[in-house]
Amino acid sequence: MTNQYVSELTNTAKMMMSEGKGILAMDESNGTCNRRFEKLGIATTEENRRAYRELILTAPNLSDYISGAILYDETIRQSTKDGVSFIKVMQEAGMIPGIKVDTGAKDYAGHPGEKVTEGLDGLRDRIAEYYKMGARFAKWRAVITIGNLIPSDGCIEANAHGLARYAALCQEGGLVPIVEPEVLINGDHSIERCYEVTQSTLHEVFRQLYVQGVAYDQMNLKPSMVISGDNCSSQADVEQVATETIRCLLNTVPPAVPGIAFLSGGQSKERSSAHLNYMNANLRSKLPWRVTFSYARAIQQPALDHWSCKAEKVAEAQKILVQRAKLNSAASVGNYSEEMEKQPVLV
Ligand code: G3H
Repeated sequence: MTNQYVSELTNTAKMMMSEGKGILAMDESNGTCNRRFEKLGIATTEENRRAYRELILTAPNLSDYISGAILYDETIRQSTKDGVSFIKVMQEAGMIPGIKVDTGAKDYAGHPGEKVTEGLDGLRDRIAEYYKMGARFAKWRAVITIGNLIPSDGCIEANAHGLARYAALCQEGGLVPIVEPEVLINGDHSIERCYEVTQSTLHEVFRQLYVQGVAYDQMNLKPSMVISGDNCSSQADVEQVATETIRCLLNTVPPAVPGIAFLSGGQSKERSSAHLNYMNANLRSKLPWRVTFSYARAIQQPALDHWSCKAEKVAEAQKILVQRAKLNSAASVGNYSEEMEKQPVLV
């Protein structure tokens, strides 16, 4: 059966990867958003989550650097204080609305320390509802943990299978799937071990995508970088992270995929930009896909810290947010430098 959405999916997948732009992840579940609020003493109310997301989506010029933003189920139904739906705000600014559709990483039965992502039940109907609301792409995050004797083959296979089933349902319903297999940075493992695990994971993910009939040119990949564990005594430098990440992706990701948009995964904001920049400044001739960012913390955190739920800080926090988007936009074309971190933002 021909998919009625093929040309729309193909175009959307490419638009998400527009030159000089990346994707903003702002799809924190209420639990995750609340934990970030609590650290800053912000009351964990629906209104505060709404106000914060309004700050982000109405930031002037954000769409110069951001092609699309990933929303959460609560957020996609919300509006500005003046009653304009967030979807409309995005459409008018030229940013493609996206939606997180997994329901979270849960304990994986019989496999202590490992997780499997859930959310397939009822997904076809939820996709139809989100498409009707105006969403044009989706995200599903699978989590792979590196530790003693883990990840197991079962965990990689179960997560890859979930990602592929999700991606097929998205394409059937007109949403471009962002396939996000995150190999966690947490642990004392070396970059070499991260390479092995990331390679095994991506091989299995693309095998399952193939088995489920997912069109590679109508999806985008959101991987973690190949990087030393955050507690590893020997930390790989920027060049090594960038070159090992690209080597791993070249060995696993079909060239038909339009783009790769990394998650930041707990890296500092500066390292997230520097790694992406190295890939685009030094390795670009090797890349069959566009390589950009889909960061959450590495873009949002300084703005959230500055705002801290104070109405009088909104405009400044928006400038801080847009500056981080701008630096990552520069990194996505290889034009970022450490010097740019020193530019005054609030003048
Ligand atoms: O699922 C995780 C987010 O989409 C990316 O978040 O950049 O803070 O790791 P992060």
